[in-house]
Amino acid sequence: MTILDIDFGRMYREHLAASRRRVKPPEAWDARAAEMRRETDGRYMDEFVRRMDLSGCATLLDVGCGPGTIALAVAGRLTRVYGLDYSPGMLSVMMENAATRGISNVEAIERAWEDDWTGVPACDVVVASRSTLVNDMADALAKLDARANRRVYLTSLVGGRFVDTDVLEALGYAPPPLPDYIYVLNILYQMGRHPRVDYIEVENRRAVAPDFESFLRRVAFSLGELSPREKERLRAWYDANPERAREGGKPRRWAFIWWETRGA
Ligand SMILES: C[S@@+](CC[C@H](N)C(=O)[O-])C[C@H]1O[C@@H](n2cnc3c(N)ncnc32)[C@H](O)[C@@H]1O
Repeated sequence: MTILDIDFGRMYREHLAASRRRVKPPEAWDARAAEMRRETDGRYMDEFVRRMDLSGCATLLDVGCGPGTIALAVAGRLTRVYGLDYSPGMLSVMMENAATRGISNVEAIERAWEDDWTGVPACDVVVASRSTLVNDMADALAKLDARANRRVYLTSLVGGRFVDTDVLEALGYAPPPLPDYIYVLNILYQMGRHPRVDYIEVENRRAVAPDFESFLRRVAFSLGELSPREKERLRAWYDANPERAREGGKPRRWAFIWWETRGA
């Protein structure tokens, strides 16, 4: 067998199925929208934006835009930016954030990765930041590529875990890791693209949970509702050393991947 015999799109789908990921409906993100507005994610956003080349670009599409983290950060340098998300709550927060910051060249598009993207405008730059845990990676990358006149920038998880291994151990629960960025690189290669990769390291999100209830909500958001026994184990782990829990675990690493499209 050679690498040419591997269907990385299929392998990604099979890996995702094996990892027993909890599929989240838009309402799950609606419920987090207010909290995400408050989260200041300055360093991640700065690290993402400083790696982007916007020269000669006028328009941007931000897929899985959430509160508008990337779209709003660069709106002042472009004529029009579009934020696409399947969560109406996130899109409202993005538009409120835009209004608060006096940004008027942003438009919300309520759409899912899995939907038909007819009518989604092609833009000079297309971005997908921390929003790439999709059901079908080959389809998602083809959609990003087809909408980008010049370049695509995305981030994808490194290592396949949103919850630290020490927390998983405390729960006595070890789901297989999620598929990570290495599929993205291989699928792009098979699409005939030449992706470039860099890494953004950020503080673990656990550090922003001020108390047990908020910590529990974060763990459940990733792993699904915990059983009473699991909650007890998590509580015991937290109470044994609340400072350790609040300090956050190992830094999270995102692969920052970009490529030029055919139109470039
Ligand atoms: C972790 S947030 C990232 C938000 C923003 N891009 C950032 O980096 O701060 C993930 C976003 O992807 C959106 N999302 C998740 N699944 C989606 C899907 N199937 N279709 C469209 N958007 C989705 C969520 O609503 C959420 O706003």
